[in-house]
Amino acid sequence: MREAPVVELRGVWKTFDHHEVLRGVSLVLPKGTTLAVMGGSGVGKTVLLRLCAGLTRPDAGEIRLFGANIEQLREEAMLSLRRRTGFVFQSAALFDSLSVFENVAYPLREHTTLSEGEITERVHRFLSVVGLPGTDSLLPAELSGGMKKRVGIARALVLEPEVVFFDEPTAGLDPTNARVVGELIAQLRSGVCDTAIVVTHDVEFADMVSDQMAILHDGRFEATGTPEEVHRSTVPAVQAFLAGELRES
Ligand SMILES: Nc1ncnc2c1ncn2[C@@H]1O[C@H](COP(=O)(O)OP(=O)(O)OP(=O)(O)O)[C@@H](O)[C@H]1O
Ligand SMILES: [Mg+2]
Repeated sequence: MREAPVVELRGVWKTFDHHEVLRGVSLVLPKGTTLAVMGGSGVGKTVLLRLCAGLTRPDAGEIRLFGANIEQLREEAMLSLRRRTGFVFQSAALFDSLSVFENVAYPLREHTTLSEGEITERVHRFLSVVGLPGTDSLLPAELSGGMKKRVGIARALVLEPEVVFFDEPTAGLDPTNARVVGELIAQLRSGVCDTAIVVTHDVEFADMVSDQMAILHDGRFEATGTPEEVHRSTVPAVQAFLAGELRES
């Protein structure tokens, strides 16, 4: 039997206070794919990503995670599916009072019965993956924006998820840090995790990390396909977005 897509959305709607943010969005994320979701500010990218990760429920439409319809899952089954995913929040969302080590160890302490030695090994392995070995005892306040993002990425990876959801991983970073984070995400594909959705409004970055792209505008995807296909789109809103007219950081 064909392996179920990691994420599948069919005709998903989401409304907040009479504002129809998503108006019938469909997508398929097969294993081994990195999908970049792009669109202007406030267009619903974060809402869409949270829906894909099972963190928010849709008003209408169907969402499948690892082949399971999330609407039909009990809380416990949902939690065990979520454990197979990693989420990198738009703001790094680190615990300010916890050290770098404890921030990355947190999901292991919450969701596994690993020994202290195994936790230490795992945390050090993923701090190395994100290029931050030796930062164990630092507090979030002592980190640069780029380092915070990388700690957030290490925390999302530490449970060895099958898919990672990145929300604006380069936003707010200077070009050097943005490139470091971009290279890191591109590298993850060949090792730690080969399936991802990356929300971004940075077209250059999306070109670098994705093999599928989708542009969200007015509650729907206006263009989907390979980066080359999306760049060739003649849809006015897509052209305007790619030309920078609908973008802002
Ligand atoms: N929990 C919520 N309650 C009410 N409205 C919400 C909620 N979450 C999102 N919205 C609204 O949905 C719309 C889309 O928000 P979302 O955060 O997904 O945008 P975005 O594309 O991620 O924007 P940005 O590029 O600024 O991060 C906004 O109008 C926002 O106010
Ligand atoms: Mg957002």
